[in-house]
Amino acid sequence: MFVVDTPLQGGNDMPQCFDFKADGTVHREHLTAEHQQTPINIIKNNDRGGYTVPTNRLYPYQWNWDSGFTALGIWHFSKWRAWLEITSLLGAQWEDGMVPHIIFRRNDPDYFPGPDVWKTNTQPPTSGHSQPPVLASIVLQMVRMGSNYDKKKAKQIFSRLMSYHRWFATNRDPLGTGIIGIIHPWESGRDNCPDWDIGLKSVDVPDDLMHYQRRDTSHVDVNQRPTQEQYDKFIAIVEFGQKAGWNHKLIHNDGPFLMADPGVQFIFLRANKDLFELAQLLDFTDELKEIQDWIELLTKGCEWLWNDSIGSYCARDIKSGTFSNATTNASMLSFFAGAGSKVQKESMAHHCNRILSACSYGMPSWDPQHEEFESKRYWRGPVWLVMNHMIAIGLQDSGESGLAERIRNDTYRLVENNGMAEYFDPLDGTGLGGMNFSWTAAIYLNQCNDEVANTLDTTQ
Ligand code: DGY
Repeated sequence: MFVVDTPLQGGNDMPQCFDFKADGTVHREHLTAEHQQTPINIIKNNDRGGYTVPTNRLYPYQWNWDSGFTALGIWHFSKWRAWLEITSLLGAQWEDGMVPHIIFRRNDPDYFPGPDVWKTNTQPPTSGHSQPPVLASIVLQMVRMGSNYDKKKAKQIFSRLMSYHRWFATNRDPLGTGIIGIIHPWESGRDNCPDWDIGLKSVDVPDDLMHYQRRDTSHVDVNQRPTQEQYDKFIAIVEFGQKAGWNHKLIHNDGPFLMADPGVQFIFLRANKDLFELAQLLDFTDELKEIQDWIELLTKGCEWLWNDSIGSYCARDIKSGTFSNATTNASMLSFFAGAGSKVQKESMAHHCNRILSACSYGMPSWDPQHEEFESKRYWRGPVWLVMNHMIAIGLQDSGESGLAERIRNDTYRLVENNGMAEYFDPLDGTGLGGMNFSWTAAIYLNQCNDEVANTLDTTQ
């Protein structure tokens, strides 16, 4: 466990790493070790001995994609601890390859729903479904930035990444359509996005639903969290999975909720491209064909998410075929996946420009020009920096460097003016949800170090 002896800083106490010029560009000269201390302290304070919680009290366990992004931040100040974050997460991998979305290493009554609700009978106890599979992309980034030590570490976990992807390919697309179906809004990581209202409509809340008491709303303003109606439906889906003994074939076929998520679809496609590169770098040549097949199938599957009526990638209900009709920060991950034709990419870039012009800070989780936009409610409007991180990489890779720069600058401005919050209001920048948040600190730290590395590269 890390020992922290420096008090935490947040919000406006935070030193400004970057000066902003009137034209929106950034001076990078002032970055010093002192500026990195706040995010490092936050991550160290959230360390629970081998794994990092997203934030104290609100989320007292290890979350799958939180840990992935947090490892990326930790890597910049402690390589061995970054790898430990990943290996401890993979230590909870199920025998069938699934990496669960929460790992309950110790019981904490401050969180609901805990291990007694999920009843997965695993050791350690976990939740019963997964989360966006970002791990392979993060591992590749650590290998690219690192040395032989990082290669050695990646080699040790490569087969686990393979079986995780195999699990996703077979259990979330059992018919081999190339379309990944999520079985719970929590599996998207974008819990209460309006996208899921479509699939949640047909989720019945049984009269005998377990009695429960939410804990999240005792830590965070109720207006920044999912509604009670949504929560009842979330729990009804968990109850279905638990009664099905977490048999994922059964849940996929007969479960109450099955939607295609552009976030998971694009993240998984990109993760497979990154896994392919990893396999080449680490000499796992026997695996290349299997990964290539996943890439081809998923690329085809993306087409099903193209909503021609608004010229954008959207979530879609697999049972009814109904499209969501708004562009989200998950839609913007099409660039990260390298998905779409030239015309589709142009249309997505047009949406990106339009949405960024409609708010002070990008990229909002729901279109601000759409009637259901709520600037402070979790995934119904606020900005999330892990999404910004992936969107900026995708935009840069696709040659949209101006848009990528805007997103990265917004990430700096949000953190430096409003602290390391869980998410942010895209209109006024207010920090929302949990504070001193691990993945926000990690993304900021990674971005600062990335900028420095790039600056050094160009000046050498
Ligand atoms: C929560 O508890 O809100 C989490 O997002 C579920 O994973």
